[in-house]
Amino acid sequence: MRNPLVVGSRVYLRALETNDAETDAAQANAETETFMYRGRAPASPLAFARWIEEDGKHPMPSEIHLAVCLRDGDRYIGAVSLHHVDYLNRTAETGSGLADGFRNQGFGTEAKMLLLEYAFDRLHLHAIHSHVFEHNTRSAAALRKQGYRYAGRRKWDDVKGGVYRDGLLFDLLREEWLAAREAWRATLPADVRGKGLGRDREPTP
Ligand SMILES: CC(C)(COP(=O)(O)OP(=O)(O)OC[C@H]1O[C@@H](n2cnc3c(N)ncnc32)[C@H](O)[C@@H]1OP(=O)(O)O)[C@@H](O)C(=O)NCCC(=O)NCCS
Repeated sequence: MRNPLVVGSRVYLRALETNDAETDAAQANAETETFMYRGRAPASPLAFARWIEEDGKHPMPSEIHLAVCLRDGDRYIGAVSLHHVDYLNRTAETGSGLADGFRNQGFGTEAKMLLLEYAFDRLHLHAIHSHVFEHNTRSAAALRKQGYRYAGRRKWDDVKGGVYRDGLLFDLLREEWLAAREAWRATLPADVRGKGLGRDREPTP
């Protein structure tokens, strides 16, 4: 592991590095999921590198993007994020995206559990919310598994394929996340369960 920030059983989180930009651009250009399609905006390593550089300049960032890496081999497979971090009211929105080929194998939920540990137990946030396009049913299923509760619908939120789509809102408190993490951990094989993730730590004072 290199520069790990939060460590799980199969994945760990670290700060993004400009070297990750090549992977980001390649993934963006190869994207096949229609809900991820962002029109004709160019996706170059240069643009991603610039975004990562700018991201690291703020001492109290309102956007925090963390690389998701496999413990086995250190490969960078995606990112999880805190958006609109409000340090006064202690709220933020979460986001996540894995490269095609790493989805639907539980990596996203594990990475999100680590992000939520970072958000609740290190940044001491109080409430988290998330926003999903209605037809991204996998993302909504993953959020529910992570403890998020459906909180409402935003009509005509985005256009995909010429059709206006609704957005679904979800929210999450620390106690709900802890309960979901326990339930999720119980589904893991015994040899994985105790490894790295869920150290049952109290939040730092
Ligand atoms: C969203 C994302 C980060 C989730 O991570 P992941 O590793 O794929 O998620 P998990 O494997 O932990 O969980 C996915 C769950 O959705 C379920 N699922 C899979 N396809 C589904 C579908 N089409 N409809 C409903 N549920 C679905 C899976 O069965 C699984 O639930 P289970 O573990 O109870 O069986 C990842 O899929 C991704 O990067 N997707 C593309 C980008 C994206 O959509 N980002 C979120 C934008 S809001």
